Amino acid sequence: PLYYEWSGISELEEMLRHRFGIARVIIVPGDTDEDQHARMLMGQQAANELMNTMQPHDTIAVTGGSSIEAMENFLVESDVAKDVQFIAARGSIGHEMRRQANTLAASFAAKTNSAYKTLYLPENLSEHIYLALKEEPMVKEMLTLYEETAIVVHGIGRADTMAQRRQVSDIEMRYLEEVGAVGEAFGYYFNEKGNTVHKVRAIGIAEHHVKKSRNVLAVAGGKNKAAAIRAYFLSAPKQTTFITDEAAAKEILDAF
Ligand code: G3H
Repeated sequence: PLYYEWSGISELEEMLRHRFGIARVIIVPGDTDEDQHARMLMGQQAANELMNTMQPHDTIAVTGGSSIEAMENFLVESDVAKDVQFIAARGSIGHEMRRQANTLAASFAAKTNSAYKTLYLPENLSEHIYLALKEEPMVKEMLTLYEETAIVVHGIGRADTMAQRRQVSDIEMRYLEEVGAVGEAFGYYFNEKGNTVHKVRAIGIAEHHVKKSRNVLAVAGGKNKAAAIRAYFLSAPKQTTFITDEAAAKEILDAF
């Protein structure tokens, strides 16, 4: 409806927060698909929110992706930040070194002068290897940290984009289409009803860890992601703060 065009950003934030039933929505002007400035602004807002939310001794799990990467330049040292620990929410993905969870956990820790823990394992493990790895001390330690995670910082992607980024086989790609995957977050693919339809078999944070964390920061924008974002929030944790852009927000509200 056209009236969204007439609404100010704070009204859009409140409408979206109400629709999603979450803690907070922050909208920046622009469209991330079209201009990098909007992505930078999302990163800035997300970084501020994280700095304000963290408490001493928090374990903070971060995923990969360009939206989370955009936070990096806005994270700073603080009295609280020096006592937190950043951990990679997942092992590696695709070949994009720069934007992997591991790389971002390390760079966030460098920016805030805090500690970090990474886990370098491939995704798409065979069942056999996956079960064996879970018994490794290094992996067990990471799983314990996921249990203790206070804050989760994650992106939300379109299912097709994320599958391409993971370089999945044609068969897997077709499978995702068949089960109606529209979006992806922390290795979970979900359909337009927000139900999980596929999980990447990898060592990483699980949905139940995210649900019981104190705060969740979700960062995703761009008109193209609207359907994925809308679906994700049908079953997202209530303690989520969502940072997005105006283009995505309007597209999402239009679909209600
Ligand atoms: O899980 C989704 C991805 O983290 C989104 O990546 O921020 O580069 O679009 P992106």
